[in-house]
Order: sequence, then structure tokens, then C-alpha cells
Amino acid sequence: MKFFVDTAEIDAIAELNDTGMVDGVTTNPSLILKSGRDILEVTKEICDLVDGPVSAEVVATDADDMIAEGRKLATIADNIAVKLPLTWDGLKACKVLSGEGNMVNVTLCFSGNQALLAAKAGATFISPFIGRLDDMSIDGLDLIEDIRTIYDNYGFETQILAASIRSVNHVQDCAKIGADVMTAPPDVIKKLAGHPLTDKGLEQFLKDAAKADIKIV
Ligand code: E4P
Repeated sequence: MKFFVDTAEIDAIAELNDTGMVDGVTTNPSLILKSGRDILEVTKEICDLVDGPVSAEVVATDADDMIAEGRKLATIADNIAVKLPLTWDGLKACKVLSGEGNMVNVTLCFSGNQALLAAKAGATFISPFIGRLDDMSIDGLDLIEDIRTIYDNYGFETQILAASIRSVNHVQDCAKIGADVMTAPPDVIKKLAGHPLTDKGLEQFLKDAAKADIKIV
């Protein structure tokens, strides 16, 4: 499973990138607002830092304007994935922009039918939002399973990009279901390494290393 980082914070991306954990980055207008940066400038910096796809989202709502914005975003770097909302206009824009050879990430997906439409419109990635469904007491993981089944039934190559991930359990469950990619905030990715038995075991090993006066370099 590929790991994308869901942030527009350069320092956080750089830190995770140093560990080889960053296969791409996703942003959205809310994350750009949080960063306090200009979208074009910060997206360019992210694209320079990371080799994989960097999703940058349009803000227009009609297809022609989405296409114009998508074309402009695509000039930032070769690794831009134009992010479009799952509306009828978004699907029209997806068809045009993917037909021009751009990577397209169709976002705000909340049903298997929406995912089916995005695949038919040529999306590179579909972004089902797990956490926002969980917020409504609907199991977001069921949606990932539904989309996996639908795409496998017909051999669609659109990659399932599990989004709105809020916990380490979401990550493991998505990996078990077979999501192609997951995008999560940096703190969730860092928490994946944690286990209390790792901490406890290390504490004992370090005590014993001190007693044995172990020095390696
Ligand atoms: C994904 O592309 C979105 O930016 C993100 O995962 C949304 O997450 P949220 O529901 O926690 O805001």
C-alpha cells in the first residue's frame, strides 16, 4: 500500500520523506488555509520535495472552469494530480483532464456508485472519505470494501486512495481490504510505529546494556 501524506506543511512532509514513508501528498483548500501559504507556491515546493503524485484541488464548480484550473495546476510540475470533487461537472472535467494525460484524483467520494462513475471518467485515484462517514455512524471501511469489489469485478485501474483517515486502525484495516493508497495526517503516520511492548522491551534492553557496559562505537 502506498502512503500519501495529507498535509501542506513542508516540514512535516520533509521529516517523513527522510524515512522513505512518502509515496505522495494530498492537499485540499482547508489544508492550504491551515498552512497559511499561497497554493501555487506551496504546491511547487511540495512537488520539488516529493517524487510521487501531489494532489492539488481546484476551487471552481463548473466543468469549464475546473478544466482551466486543472490545466494551470498541472503546469506546476509533472507529478501534479489534479483533484476534482465528485460532482457531475467534476466528472466531465475528469474525462477531459485525464484524456490530456494528467493524473486526476476524484475526491469527496461517499458511495460505490460515485466510485464507479469516477473510474469510468478515467480517474487515476478515487478518494473515499472514511472518517467523515464514521462521523455519521456509517462504517467508512465498508465503502472501501465495496469499491474494491466493484473495481475488481470489472478490472478498473483507478487506484483506491483511502482518505479522511483518522486512526492507526483505519490504516491497518485499509491495508487488509486492499486499498491501493492511503492518505493520512503526519501524526497518524508517525503513530503507526508505536507499540507499548516495543517501549517496554527497549527500556529493559537499555537498562541491561548499561549494566553490561555495552559500547558499540
Ligand atoms: C483527502 O484527500 C482529504 O484531504 C482528507 O483526507 C480529508 O480528511 P478529513 O475528513 O479528516 O478532513
